[in-house]
Amino acid sequence: MLFIPRVTLPVKIAIIVLVVLGLIFAGAGVILRAVDYGPAQPVPFSHRIHAGTKDISCFFCHQYATVSANAGIPSVEKCLLCHNVIVPRWRPVEKIHEYAQRNEPIPWVRVNRMPEFTHFSHQAHLARGFDCSRCHGNVKEMDRIRPVYKFDMKFCVNCHWENNFSTNCYICHW
Ligand code: HEC
Ligand code: HEC
Ligand code: HEC
Ligand code: HEC
Ligand code: HEC
Repeated sequence: MLFIPRVTLPVKIAIIVLVVLGLIFAGAGVILRAVDYGPAQPVPFSHRIHAGTKDISCFFCHQYATVSANAGIPSVEKCLLCHNVIVPRWRPVEKIHEYAQRNEPIPWVRVNRMPEFTHFSHQAHLARGFDCSRCHGNVKEMDRIRPVYKFDMKFCVNCHWENNFSTNCYICHW
């Protein structure tokens, strides 16, 4: 299997063990990266740069959050308001122009999704003054968005309980 001349059996075993351990750590690294950085996106859009460093308001891009159930994802046109003039020739930004020329939306990979039978509304929660970070974590530090909390029933019901709000099944399931 492993041909290494003039080394004793224990040394061979040690080498094999090291190789196997190396593979395990490399594999764990890949998995941890995937968890830490969230899914890869068609354009490497960074919340850390836009919402963090450049301090652009969440509501500039997610403008429906206070008025509807969905926060909304910004259109290609909204990106181009800035990127027609800001680093337009930078390769990752050129990709935005390519989508615009083809008249296609950018196929962003969805990060958070509730099951069909469960209803959630941004409007109701923002009206009560909850910050985005209460449910999405510190997005301003994320290059790729990743889920910070698991949106299971406990996550929702615990907070309704703490706020003396209804935990009636039909609030969320209809
Ligand atoms: C310049 C525009 C822009 C700004 C500013 C911005 N976002 Fe986003 N946001 C996007 C785009 C584009 C996506 C879809 C791609 C992605 O997931 O990274 C997105 C996705 C998200 C998602 C994940 C949606 C999903 O798929 O589940 C969350 C959560 C989010 N943004 C929260 C925030 C918060 C909180 C802020 C403010 C701190 C913010 N965003 C500021 C453009 C923006
Ligand atoms: C309000 C202005 C503004 C809007 C709107 C905006 N950006 Fe940006 N974007 C910037 C600025 C400023 C930079 C940083 C440029 C620099 O570093 O010189 C940037 C950088 C980038 C970069 C390069 C990041 C890197 O890692 O080098 C990408 C890709 C990008 N934006 C994608 C997008 C996408 C996609 C949208 C629409 C969802 C968007 N931007 C909307 C201002 C904006
Ligand atoms: C009380 C918890 C909570 C708060 C506060 C909250 N979100 Fe969300 N957000 C969720 C849940 C749950 C989903 C998944 C909803 C679904 O799949 O229907 C979600 C999905 C999203 C999405 C992707 C789908 C969409 O709605 O268009 C974006 C973008 C988003 N949130 C942005 C924001 C921003 C920006 C803020 C602050 C202004 C915010 N959220 C505040 C819980 C929250
Ligand atoms: C941070 C605490 C908190 C979390 C987390 C939370 N909720 Fe709520 N939710 C509230 C409060 C408080 C209200 C009452 C808002 C009001 O006064 O109308 C509410 C209201 C609602 C309503 C009624 C909306 C309406 O239109 O009247 C629904 C549905 C709901 N939540 C679903 C969910 C779901 C699903 C989740 C989990 C994904 C969730 N909530 C997570 C605190 C929370
Ligand atoms: C505040 C919102 C909320 C309330 C109130 C609520 N649920 Fe849920 N429920 C959820 C969410 C969110 C999920 C999805 C969990 C997931 O995706 O793991 C869920 C999932 C479920 C499931 C599927 C279980 C599973 O593991 O997939 C059942 C069954 C269920 N709920 C029944 C109920 C019943 C019965 C009540 C009333 C006693 C109730 N729920 C009240 C938010 C709620």
